Amino acid sequence: MQTGFLHLHKAAVILFMLLYILKWVALILNNDNMQAFFAKKALRIGEMVISTLFLFTGIYLLFSLPAEQRSILLWIKIGLVLLSIPVAVVGFKRKHKLLATLSVLLIVLSYGLAEMHKKRPAVQQELKTTVSVSGEEVYKLANCAICHGQDGKLMLNGAKDLSKSELTKAEIEHQILNGKNAMPAYKNSLSPEQVKLLVDYVETFRK
Ligand code: HEC
Repeated sequence: MQTGFLHLHKAAVILFMLLYILKWVALILNNDNMQAFFAKKALRIGEMVISTLFLFTGIYLLFSLPAEQRSILLWIKIGLVLLSIPVAVVGFKRKHKLLATLSVLLIVLSYGLAEMHKKRPAVQQELKTTVSVSGEEVYKLANCAICHGQDGKLMLNGAKDLSKSELTKAEIEHQILNGKNAMPAYKNSLSPEQVKLLVDYVETFRK
């Protein structure tokens, strides 16, 4: 479900960005034909659909994200997007090249930030030296929820639904230690006790 929304959101963001870059090119080049094309009713309706999709999928994702993943970077990104809207409206309506350029830059910048946000390391190295009391805590601190979600069902980045997993304890442990495909290895960042706690916790997703 969330993965579907994420794909939809990404597609809407990329279409939105492309549309604005093209509109910006038309404005900068003073190309009347191109500008007339973007002023067409069908295109304006398309633009409305894309921006509505972009906004609503974004809001849905924001609220479905676990609180600890709502980082400062994410808020900066949202701030930039919100700022770009009035700047774009005024810039393109008044054909003000500087404002239009600024709005496109804001959108592209916030997209760049979103990509950066994804590439944060999955887990801090010092985690294994902290004393962990429960598997739930380790699951949170090790950011397993980024791909698996708080309930194990998220399946982001190709992750498996943990509530439907049929792996044995030993297999789960092996996979946490060594990783598999998009899943990182945790043998250097988690202590053996933390891994044991995690294995038991992961099994509780199957009800
Ligand atoms: C970057 C994304 C990512 C993170 C973070 C991540 N996983 Fe995974 N996980 C995956 C992917 C992808 C797979 C499926 C690998 C495959 O079989 O191709 C997977 C599979 C698994 C499986 C096996 C499920 C099965 O039935 O095959 C377990 C168990 C698991 N992850 C537990 C964890 C735990 C515990 C953490 C945190 C310490 C974690 N994962 C963090 C992406 C991730």
